Amino acid sequence: MTRLFGVAGSPVFQSKSPFMFNAAFRDLGIDAIYVRLAASSAKEVMATAHDVGLQGFNVTSPFKTEIMDYLDDAEDDARKIGAVNTVVRKGGRFVGYNTDVEGVRGAVASHGLNLMRTKAVVLGAGGAARAAALALRSAGARVVIVNRTHDKARDAAERLECEALPFGQLADAMADASLLVAAVSSHERIVDPSLLARRLVVLDANYGRPSALVEDVARLGCGAMDGREWLLAQAIPAFTLFTGRRAPENVMRRALWKRRMDARSSLALIGFMGSGKSVVAEELAALAGMPVVDIDKKIEEKAGMPIAEIFHRNGEEVFRRMEQAEIDELRNVARHVVSCGGGAVLARPNVRVLRNNCLSVWLWANAALCLDRIGSTETRPLLSGSDPESSARDLLRSRIPYYAATCDFVVSTEGKTPAEIARRIWHEVHHAFAS
Ligand code: S3P
Repeated sequence: MTRLFGVAGSPVFQSKSPFMFNAAFRDLGIDAIYVRLAASSAKEVMATAHDVGLQGFNVTSPFKTEIMDYLDDAEDDARKIGAVNTVVRKGGRFVGYNTDVEGVRGAVASHGLNLMRTKAVVLGAGGAARAAALALRSAGARVVIVNRTHDKARDAAERLECEALPFGQLADAMADASLLVAAVSSHERIVDPSLLARRLVVLDANYGRPSALVEDVARLGCGAMDGREWLLAQAIPAFTLFTGRRAPENVMRRALWKRRMDARSSLALIGFMGSGKSVVAEELAALAGMPVVDIDKKIEEKAGMPIAEIFHRNGEEVFRRMEQAEIDELRNVARHVVSCGGGAVLARPNVRVLRNNCLSVWLWANAALCLDRIGSTETRPLLSGSDPESSARDLLRSRIPYYAATCDFVVSTEGKTPAEIARRIWHEVHHAFAS
């Protein structure tokens, strides 16, 4: 059975973890898929991970601390830091780890930096910042934590036996520091360039779009550690926690450093019948200012009859051929919101077209909720047997790997209105569609 893993956060679409983990699974012949999970709270992360059946997942901002309330256990470093970036399902229990400590150690090692008796400044006081503080202190540095909300810096410093200074005293903190680690979510300029001495080495946890800090550091000629070294070095132990196998480091490094051009301009919604694709597509289209293509509706229009009747008269195979022809048309459209039928991802050619032309979002709902939303199963020929509930459950289970392999991220629809779901999706992807 295909095992599922993932990374949960908000936003999470920018995460490059799936590239590393999926490349590693392929390399070692492990039947597993790693997805992104876009959530609005740690509680939702846990519920969705449980329902979808994730065997393990990484946690990114802003849930690294909050997730701890929902775990059954956490190892020592995680508890000391008060944050978790890796969760492993052991039997029915969820256990938290913090491999960010290894991540920062790895980044420092890749730069050949000796921190013994040096001073390091950590900017931020969240989960990633606290893991960095612990790693730097254990490498022999004197660590000063500086954060906009000083109380948080003080708490973190107490917990980790570091020092804390108010944000207003950043200049004092930086005076004789040899390393600055920034673990704040903002991309805006928060460190005045006048504080960036040439002897300083800077590590910014943001490894995607360059932050103002990364740009300033490059311009001023300070030392720069690549944030991807941190990402890679925390993923390696996480991979072993997930699979029990040694991580293929070079494969993961190549996948992480690979340049990817993304010319996809449409958004596709995939997921089981009743997951809300059609209604969410309308809401999302309004937010994005794009027209909707509803694949099932197009098929019905062309056939001049409802889908149940196509199945009844011509059989599923004829329907699938029509579906494939409509999906193939997506190669010729740009900037549309596409609502796919629940089985569209079963055919490889469809997956190829979707992956090349659309950013795909998997709408998650469990089988009971899907059935509840569908109401009468008469319009859904695949569920019209004598026991729709167990058919829905089995069919959904068998399809989870297909949705997982096709999607760019998954979002739970449970307890959310279509407008809320659309807003969550748009929050994730609007950068990619800014013209
Ligand atoms: C199907 C789902 C339906 C429709 C057809 C087949 C499926 O679409 O395409 O009944 O195989 O799951 P919805 O997902 O919109 O219900």
